[in-house]
Amino acid sequence: MSEWWRSAVLYQIYVRSFADSDGDGVGDLRGIRSRLPYLRELGVDGIWLTPFYPSPGADHGYDVSDYVDVHPQFGTLADFDALVAGAHELGLRLIVDIVPNHTSNEHRWFRNAIADPAHADRARYFFRPGRDGGPPNGWTSAFGGPAWTRDERTGDYYLHFFAPEQPDLDWHQQSVRREFEDVLRFWLDRGVDGFRIDVAHALFKAQDLREMHEPVPRTWDGDWLTALDQPELHDLYRGWRQLADTYPGERMFVGEIVLRNQETIARYVRPDELQLAFNFALLHETWDATAIRETIDATRTALGAVGAPSTWVFENHDVTRLPTRYGGGAQGARRARAAALLLLALPGTAFVYEGQELGLEEVDLPDELRQDPIFFRTKGERPGRDGCRVPIPWENEPPGFGFTTGTPWLPIPEEWATVTVVAQAGDPASMLELYRAGLALRPREEPFAWRESPPGTLAFTRGGLLCVVNVDAAAIPLPAGELLLASDPDLRDILPRDTAVWLTTKGERCEHRSESGRSATWRPASTRPATSPSSAVRRPRRRSALPLSDSGI
Ligand code: NOJ
Repeated sequence: MSEWWRSAVLYQIYVRSFADSDGDGVGDLRGIRSRLPYLRELGVDGIWLTPFYPSPGADHGYDVSDYVDVHPQFGTLADFDALVAGAHELGLRLIVDIVPNHTSNEHRWFRNAIADPAHADRARYFFRPGRDGGPPNGWTSAFGGPAWTRDERTGDYYLHFFAPEQPDLDWHQQSVRREFEDVLRFWLDRGVDGFRIDVAHALFKAQDLREMHEPVPRTWDGDWLTALDQPELHDLYRGWRQLADTYPGERMFVGEIVLRNQETIARYVRPDELQLAFNFALLHETWDATAIRETIDATRTALGAVGAPSTWVFENHDVTRLPTRYGGGAQGARRARAAALLLLALPGTAFVYEGQELGLEEVDLPDELRQDPIFFRTKGERPGRDGCRVPIPWENEPPGFGFTTGTPWLPIPEEWATVTVVAQAGDPASMLELYRAGLALRPREEPFAWRESPPGTLAFTRGGLLCVVNVDAAAIPLPAGELLLASDPDLRDILPRDTAVWLTTKGERCEHRSESGRSATWRPASTRPATSPSSAVRRPRRRSALPLSDSGI
């Protein structure tokens, strides 16, 4: 068994925003297929598709009304089959998103449940009587407001941890369990290499509906959600794993486990459960060497104890783009470039969100263009996630930028003409070429070991490769070794803050030299002036608090 997921790089495609083949301004499956060669050339191992199933779109596809079909806006099942075949021909794995925590309110089960209170499908959801003239308990929705909505006909309330259009399923019902096994089989039969499980830590709720005490201010992680993360989940995932293991080709699961405690996360990736869990810790970490190192250590210790690989995530479709989180402009771009070398050198599985390889910044959209339910449910207090979901620019022609021949569903900033794929390809100073080079040179199986390094820096080896990141220290001299890759193409003998390098250790003991030490033994391959892709992008207007994450639960 290759256990391919242990060192893979998976590229997340937000289907609406990747490539549009029919000019309606929304990305689709044929568009993705046409861009597979780009992904092959980029050097990733596989792709993860966000939901493309029939959906009214209350949460852009995370409200599924039919789990075993394709939304006509995105194509057909035949298009899906062609995409799987096309990906496999190029040696790319393909995993799909599965959304088991909740259905759409347009799903036939929920429609039956609302239309007829005696219908058997009502038991698939949480309908409960209210308490003291209000909802059954004080649980709140991750999208703002209460997690309960009143069913006007009966006066009962139903549970939704996200939007009211996303009623939660009751996973204690065997019928729900059976139906989802069929859903898994449906896509496994069509050849998918695995699943990303949405809200994977929250499917079961404590049956006594006990109160949960929210931290103030609310934190990104779900560790405080004591009525979730229930023990029943582990048995469920063991069953799913057994099911997937009956298929050839090493099918895998990656769970969206939005918890901070690595020991708790590790329980989901024991040898007979899920293969991977997203590790959101770095994605929420500030650019701080001590904090980053602690996160790496805590992750590796906890996951190593159960024999699971670590995963590393800096961006996804729920969080503010990395260069913007790291300060935006030239500083954000420098840090995002250094973070790219860190990401690709760490041991385990890496996830890259579309546009991350272009260094895209968050777009500050005008309120009238925002579509995220978070924006509406919080009455604009939280801007939501549209700013990281703007379609990606392929070519230099506005308004479609090669993404569409029509009008993109969210406008692509004109300034992005300088950061399109075409503009960056072949420019050794570009973020795209940094990612391409990093993906090509990336260590895979090589053992990880920390190297001693000055405070504010990180240094570790992966076999013969030494990765040094100057996060927040004064400039340090470069360690000995031959330069493989530098986040700053103008880098000389020293490593300033916000930069990273990959060097070969060539079997030498690699030590940092003192400030007064010897001269550097290498010169950078490129002497081109740095053109910072992100620095050309319009910096977003700052709201009072630009949220780091709005992934919710
Ligand atoms: C997590 C997904 O990543 C997010 O986009 C979605 O809104 C929620 N789960 C609800 O499905």
